[in-house]
Amino acid sequence: MREKLIAGNWKMNNDIEESLKLVESFKSMSKDFDDRVTVLVCPPFTSLFSVKEALKGYNIKIGAQNMHYEDKGAYTGEVSPIMLKNMGVEYVIIGHSERRQYFNEVDESVNKKLKAALEYDIIPIVCVGETLVQREQGIEKETVKNQIVKAFENIEHNNAKKIVVAYEPIWAIGTGKTATSKEANDMAAYIRSCIAEIYDNQVAQTIAIQYGGSVNGNNANEILNQEDIDGALVGGASLKADEFLKIINYAK
Ligand code: PGA
Repeated sequence: MREKLIAGNWKMNNDIEESLKLVESFKSMSKDFDDRVTVLVCPPFTSLFSVKEALKGYNIKIGAQNMHYEDKGAYTGEVSPIMLKNMGVEYVIIGHSERRQYFNEVDESVNKKLKAALEYDIIPIVCVGETLVQREQGIEKETVKNQIVKAFENIEHNNAKKIVVAYEPIWAIGTGKTATSKEANDMAAYIRSCIAEIYDNQVAQTIAIQYGGSVNGNNANEILNQEDIDGALVGGASLKADEFLKIINYAK
């Protein structure tokens, strides 16, 4: 059975003080987190170190929201996989739709970043998802398949298994509009079939697929109970400790 992964994507929110305050409020509850659920928080770069230090000895992992694919060099403003690895970062979100929309992230760089993360043993969470227009045109599956195929290009079998896929329909992100649990599960199952086509059924059954897009304490239960959904990538609701905890509790 695949375990559940609940990840909080804080986006560009929380300075160091606010970050510490937020983790403080759910740190003590982490004793109740069991092996069936992995809890992850992804603060902005500036808070990563402080949050990591604050979470030492607790059952909560930390991840970054992005990274460059090169080890080092003249890339002003970028952060490399080695820098993250040396800080103890275990996960990294790659290809979030906001990066694709505002920062020129394209399938090619997503693929390079996935390879770089895997090289340094950082687990990548790769985001895919269609726009509202694409869904209305009925090309949501084609769109997502294309993103998956390009993201996984030339990634070998054993490495592919380690990748987490987050299905995040763009029309559901930060809009308060969630995909129905059926829509979310259908796409997760479809993503699994795409992975099976590229690799095999074993890889497809191993890979964790999250849903993301306006997940909160009220809708998490239904979403997380779907067969092909192995967790959630949570934005807004991860900024409130009680909401985030509710979601985690449904995952257990
Ligand atoms: P949201 O964000 O939960 O605020 O919709 C999800 C995401 O962007 O990962």
